[in-house]
Amino acid sequence: MHLKCQHISKAYHDGGDSIYVLQDINFELAAGQSMAIVGSSGSGKSTLMHILGGLASPTSGSVNIGEKNLADLNDDELARIRNQHIGFVYQFHHLLPEFTALENIAMPLLIRGVSRKDAMQEAQQWLDRIQLDNRGEHFPSQLSGGERQRIAIARAMITKPDLLLADEPTGNLDDATGQIIYELLLNLQRTHHTALVIVTHDMNLAKKLERQFVLHHGQLSLCP
Ligand SMILES: Nc1ncnc2c1ncn2[C@@H]1O[C@H](COP(=O)(O)OP(=O)(O)O)[C@@H](O)[C@H]1O
Ligand SMILES: [Mg+2]
Repeated sequence: MHLKCQHISKAYHDGGDSIYVLQDINFELAAGQSMAIVGSSGSGKSTLMHILGGLASPTSGSVNIGEKNLADLNDDELARIRNQHIGFVYQFHHLLPEFTALENIAMPLLIRGVSRKDAMQEAQQWLDRIQLDNRGEHFPSQLSGGERQRIAIARAMITKPDLLLADEPTGNLDDATGQIIYELLLNLQRTHHTALVIVTHDMNLAKKLERQFVLHHGQLSLCP
């Protein structure tokens, strides 16, 4: 599914002042393609990712996912697009602490109304795919940072999203573990033909993706 951003700007209001974090962002990402976004802390990377994922609205401009302009959707329609087409992975996994690894992976299907038996079966397959088949009954607090992030990726992928958004997914991990997470993301992208946007500080990791963009002074440009 094609992602198209046109003239996206975002202002935050601080008292009477508007601070523009994003100014006229334009890009397209075709189905199954990958791109990295690098940029210093505070450059607006998370703001952009939240807009792409329908978690925040731009001040102006439009985000199209396939035929749909996100701005035209009501809350229910947006929630459905998010659940059916978009996966999100955060820097800090955001796993639910009171649920096991397996249950965390199954959660988006349970939210969709899939039966517990089917959801858990599908989650088990994802646990195998991320090579954590012996960790299903562990709680997040019993897992390493890299393991938690793999669980978070499986949770984001279980709905077979067309678009996977990962906001500094390795920002909290050592280099070797970061490499493993990237290999996993790129493998899934190729196998499932998922479009992939990854935000990172690490240019070496960014180079593993098809295109590299930098966000600077609110503007997005291709890395030279
Ligand atoms: N809800 C908000 N209200 C006001 N300012 C915000 C809000 N969210 C982010 N910002 C500001 O927008 C800028 C970009 O933030 P962010 O998108 O989180 O950057 P990055 O992810 O690149 O570190 C920062 O200066 C931040 O303080
Ligand atoms: Mg951020």
